[in-house]
Amino acid sequence: MTTIDWMGKTVSQAAGLHAYVPGKPIAQMLRELGLAESEIEKQVASTVKLASNENPNGPPPKAILAMQQVASEVHRYPDGDCFALKQSLAKLHGISNKQLLIGNGSNEVLELIIRAFAGSGDEVVYSQRAFIVYALATTAAGATGIAVPEIDGLGHDLVAMAEAVNAKTKVVCIANPNNPTGSLLSTEELQDFLDALPRDVVVILDEAYYEYVRFEVADSIAALRHPGLVISRTFSKAYGLAGCRVGYAVADAALLSAVNRFREPFNVNMFAQAAAIAALEDRDWVMAKVDACVAERARLEDALNKRGCLPANSFGNFVLLQDKHALELVKAMEKRGVILRPLAPYGMADMIRVSVGSKAENDKFLSALDAELLARQ
Ligand SMILES: Cc1ncc(COP(=O)(O)O)c(C=O)c1O
Repeated sequence: MTTIDWMGKTVSQAAGLHAYVPGKPIAQMLRELGLAESEIEKQVASTVKLASNENPNGPPPKAILAMQQVASEVHRYPDGDCFALKQSLAKLHGISNKQLLIGNGSNEVLELIIRAFAGSGDEVVYSQRAFIVYALATTAAGATGIAVPEIDGLGHDLVAMAEAVNAKTKVVCIANPNNPTGSLLSTEELQDFLDALPRDVVVILDEAYYEYVRFEVADSIAALRHPGLVISRTFSKAYGLAGCRVGYAVADAALLSAVNRFREPFNVNMFAQAAAIAALEDRDWVMAKVDACVAERARLEDALNKRGCLPANSFGNFVLLQDKHALELVKAMEKRGVILRPLAPYGMADMIRVSVGSKAENDKFLSALDAELLARQ
C-alpha cells in the first residue's frame, strides 16, 4: 500500500499509485546532461525527440488559423458541451451528438469511463503491456487492476483476457493498435471477444492510433457490436494536436450520460475545440501526412531489421527497437542528440520505443544509432 502524505498526515492510500512518466522533453534532457541554460537554447533545435509518439507535421494550417481566430474570445468560457465539435464528429462517423463524449485528450476520456464504472471491490482487466494509463486510472479509482500477460510478450491474449472476466469485472481496456508493443487485433478477433463477455461489461477500445491502420481493420464504430463498447480516439496523433489536449469516445448515449456526471464542466478548452473542428475539415491533408508516416515507419523498420534489432512490426506511429543494453543505448543516444523511450517501465527491459519522426529526424536517429553500434564494437 502506498500512502500519500501531506503536512504530516496521511491524506490518501493507494496500492501502486505512481505518476505517469512522459517522454523526456528536450530541454530537460539537455539539463540532465549538465548543459548551462545558455547552451540549452542553442542545442534545442538540433536535438530530436522521438519519445512521445508526437506528429512531426503538426496540425493542418487551417487548425492553427482557427486557434488564432478564437484567441480574442479567450475571456469567455468555452462551450461546455462541445456542440460544434460533436456535430463535426457525428457527421464523420454517422452517429448522433449524444453518442459522443469529448475529453481533455483521450486520456481524460479513459479516466472518466474507468472512474464512472469501477470503484472499490471492482476489477478492471487489461493487458500487462498495454498503455500504462489503464493501470494508473484503475488504481486512482480504487479498483483492482487485472493485468493479463501477452502472447509472446507483444500481443493482447484475448482468450486469457475473456477468462479473467468475472462477476467483479466492470471494465476491460484494449488498445488497438497497442502502445507500446505496436500489435494489432483484427475486427473478427475483437467481435469474438466481445461476444464472449457479459453484456454489461464496459469495454474501452482505445484507438489512439486508429488512423494509422485504416486499411488493415474495418471501422470499429460501424463494425463492432457490444452494448458496453466505448471506442476512444484522439486528435493528438494523426491530427497533430497533442498540445491542445482533445480526444473523444463513441458509445451508447445512456452510458455516456452516466459518465457525463463525472466530467468537469469546461473540460475541453476553446482552442482545442476550434482546432479539432478545423482539422476535421482538412482530413485529406491529415491523411496524406499519415500515409507519409506509414511509409517512413516501413523505412525505419527495414533499417532496424537489417541491423538485427527489430523484434516485431508496429501498426502505430512508432517502431520497436530491441537491444540487450537498452537503457545504456537510450542514454548514449541522448548524448548524440536523439531522445528515445525506454520500455523498462512496461517490463520490457530490452526494448526501446522510437516514434516515427520527419524524414530528417529519422535519418538523424539512424545515423546516431549506427555511430553508437560502431562505437560499441
Ligand atoms: C494507446 C494510447 N491511448 C491513449 C493515449 C492518450 O492520448 P491523448 O490523451 O493525447 O489523447 C495515448 C498517448 O500516447 C496512447 O498511446
